[in-house]
Amino acid sequence: MDREPGLSVRLKLTLSYAGFLMLAGGLLLAVVWVFLLRYVPEVIHQPEPPGTWRPGPSVPDRAALEEAFVPKAGLAMACLLVFGLAGGWLLAGSMLAPLTRITHATRLAAEGSLSHRIRLEGRADEFRELADAFDTMLARLEAHDAEQQRFAANASHELRTPLAITQTLLDVARNDADRDADELVERLHFVNSRAIDLTEALLVLSRANQRTFSREPVDLSLAAEEAAETLLPLAEKHGLTIETSGDVSPTTGSHALLLQMTTNLVHNAIVHNLPDQGTVWVTTGVDARKAVLTVENTGAKLTPKLVSTFTEPFQRGTRRVRTDHAGVGLGLAIVKSIVQAHDGTLTLTPRADGGLRITVRLPLAPPHPGK
Ligand SMILES: Nc1ncnc2c1ncn2[C@@H]1O[C@H](COP(=O)(O)OP(=O)(O)OP(=O)(O)O)[C@@H](O)[C@H]1O
Ligand SMILES: [Mg+2]
Repeated sequence: MDREPGLSVRLKLTLSYAGFLMLAGGLLLAVVWVFLLRYVPEVIHQPEPPGTWRPGPSVPDRAALEEAFVPKAGLAMACLLVFGLAGGWLLAGSMLAPLTRITHATRLAAEGSLSHRIRLEGRADEFRELADAFDTMLARLEAHDAEQQRFAANASHELRTPLAITQTLLDVARNDADRDADELVERLHFVNSRAIDLTEALLVLSRANQRTFSREPVDLSLAAEEAAETLLPLAEKHGLTIETSGDVSPTTGSHALLLQMTTNLVHNAIVHNLPDQGTVWVTTGVDARKAVLTVENTGAKLTPKLVSTFTEPFQRGTRRVRTDHAGVGLGLAIVKSIVQAHDGTLTLTPRADGGLRITVRLPLAPPHPGK
């Protein structure tokens, strides 16, 4: 923003400091003056001492006092003014020095350099608190920026993969006219569906991040039942059972997004389970004034370190990619975004016997006005 040039804060502080000093000095001198007046009569009539030849009074009266006092008082005020201006200028300069550094850092950040930190040394005061808060904000912004760049790079890479495969398939078909066309179509269809899945996942992610959805009462237990029912055929195909239990779990939010969240969790619990004879437990309820959804599954043993990377976009925990499910690696990133958009928390805990337990806690819906 362009502003009209004005007085600097340093000058304003200096002037107010000097002004106060002058005021205090003036008041002090006025008090001294009043005090003196009370003890000095207006005119003194003194008999001439015997033996003096000089006429006139030699004891001071008010006029003489004024004559002596006023120039001295003026001098004192002038000294105070010089002292106030010089002292105020130096004092204001040293007080405002941290602000110069904070402004410098703000300018750098505005130009796009987020790696700079103010790191104001010394004990805590208002300026240091401001600088520390600013440093924290810069660190957050820098991390966020790096995350966004990583995300964009990963997304581009992931989107390029199906396109590159399609290109190869088409090249092969062009060079070899005798190839089975059905097989080619089948493979192209598969690759294309994966690209669509990926793009749709990216769209859901951005919708959850925007927080622009409308909010309505949602019961997580109903969403859990719906997700389990939809995914039952997949569970049967993998030879595992889904056990759904629990009470109503009312919260507020987007029904579509919360259903997507539950579906992603149950889907993961199925496809990342044991190859055979696995179990998925889906539980809902209310705990500590939160609506809670827990999805737990048997599976391979996991370390807490590995589990902590699962919610990052495009992270696929284990490298053994199964042919029937090679996920895009966005399922849990979407879950995390949806949970955050609903002001909830997401906890991932590896189970002692292998597999994973994921708990989602969302704000409890306020009780119905009618109840
Ligand atoms: N319930 C689970 N049990 C064990 N491992 C899991 C579970 N859920 C997720 N994971 C691990 O976390 C990784 C990331 O999961 P995420 O859902 O984000 O991606 P994905 O399932 O690989 O792909 P998609 O985007 O298609 O869901 C998975 O690759 C898997 O290794
Ligand atoms: Mg998944």
